[in-house]
Amino acid sequence: MKNNTFQVAILDDDKIFCKRLSSILQKKFFLEVHSFQQGTDFLASLEKIDYKLLFLDLGLPDICGFKILEYVKRVKKEVEIVIVTGNLNIEDAVLAIKQGATDYLVKPVPKNRIELTVNSLLEKIKLKQENAYLKDIISKQKQDNFIAVCPAMLEILDMVKKIAPLNCNVLIQGETGTGKEMIARMLHQLSQRRKYPFVSVNCAVFTEELIANELFGHNKEAFTGAVSSKKGLLEAANQGTVFLDEIGDMPLSLQVKLLKVIEEKKVYRLGSTKPIKLDIRIIAASNKDLKKLVDLKKFREDLFFRLNVVKLTLPRLCERKEDLKPLILYFISKYNTKFGKNIKNISDKAFSLLLKYDFPGNVRELENIIQRAIALSEGDVIDVEHLPGDISMVDLDKVDSQVLLSLEEVEKNHIQRVLEFTGYNKKIAAKILGLPRTTLWRKINKLGLKN
Ligand SMILES: Nc1ncnc2c1ncn2[C@@H]1O[C@H](COP(=O)(O)OP(=O)(O)OP(=O)(O)O)[C@@H](O)[C@H]1O
Ligand SMILES: [Mg+2]
Repeated sequence: MKNNTFQVAILDDDKIFCKRLSSILQKKFFLEVHSFQQGTDFLASLEKIDYKLLFLDLGLPDICGFKILEYVKRVKKEVEIVIVTGNLNIEDAVLAIKQGATDYLVKPVPKNRIELTVNSLLEKIKLKQENAYLKDIISKQKQDNFIAVCPAMLEILDMVKKIAPLNCNVLIQGETGTGKEMIARMLHQLSQRRKYPFVSVNCAVFTEELIANELFGHNKEAFTGAVSSKKGLLEAANQGTVFLDEIGDMPLSLQVKLLKVIEEKKVYRLGSTKPIKLDIRIIAASNKDLKKLVDLKKFREDLFFRLNVVKLTLPRLCERKEDLKPLILYFISKYNTKFGKNIKNISDKAFSLLLKYDFPGNVRELENIIQRAIALSEGDVIDVEHLPGDISMVDLDKVDSQVLLSLEEVEKNHIQRVLEFTGYNKKIAAKILGLPRTTLWRKINKLGLKN
């Protein structure tokens, strides 16, 4: 099996090393490998092949390795470059890192060192590809203001696109704040009816008489107090879409009337015998399981079948954790614009707390959390202190300790890494870390690092 998405180049005049490295890359990582001994041959292939990774020897016979490095970083900056060098040229390798190489290998390179390097680079490349994919999806979705990357939501969006132009009724189920109304509006926008009204009626907030009056309208003198006639919402939505929110709360007697309207495609204002022809599409939404209400005889089965021509069930936010980061980034950009702020990201620690939270109010709750955090934040990152107390007080023991290191631990790990990387050469390590050598010494002692 070849991993065609990762093509790798080795540019080194040391044929034996090329062969050895190539064999590891192919056998262990299933990569497609192209080996070159001359810089010119490699450069000629660069236009045709989409390399993700390059192993580069700095001492080539025809072109200086630094020139190749500079050129590749300029024309294909996404290529990860690992410098391959002999023991005597570590300073050059460090210089190459400063110029954009990711890592270096010193010959003779043990097999496990090669494997570790390749493993971590493949992780990095995959992550970059995933991020690019997410960015692409988000920028396309930003136009609709509806963000989703998880497979279940992408399937729903596909379905929305397919059924929008059809005239069928749709039932959208999902907890509060999962995006039911947004989906209903999208269905309307993507249909022929977009030029006509989208009318939203919340069946849970009115009394039975009031909903009837809202939906069907009334004639002058239909009841005491009806001084003039009034168009109902169904009539107002003619040729457009009616969104019946919280349909599960509609009283049974009204359900009968609604069913009649749907079947006959006409409506009578209250107190009138004159039918008005109706051409409407009904999208109903409920945060209760409508089928269960039917079983409990709280919802009419015949109306259920009329509405449930296509059913879309929106998952809870805590069941689609992949959507969390894209939604956060989207809300950050939305509220940056609104509040004139320039927040760039959310800290790992704050993000891991949100990952653990179960969002009973779903996306609406997340949006409120981010809006509040942006209003409170003065730096350029949303951090734990900007989250509401009940989230920031989540038991830290439950949170992945990998993500939530203290600053001192991060510093310690990083210095250790640079020391190992430079073969414990403190002069070079201090240079990479941007510290005076004496400060590095102090830190090594204070943090109890291997010297
Ligand atoms: N996928 C999404 N992308 C961007 N914003 C979203 C998304 N889903 C929901 N929202 C935001 O959350 C808010 C709630 O969405 P919506 O009103 O569609 O939910 P709902 O399911 O109808 O909720 P309720 O049952 O409480 O009426 C919206 O105002 C919108 O800002
Ligand atoms: Mg709603």
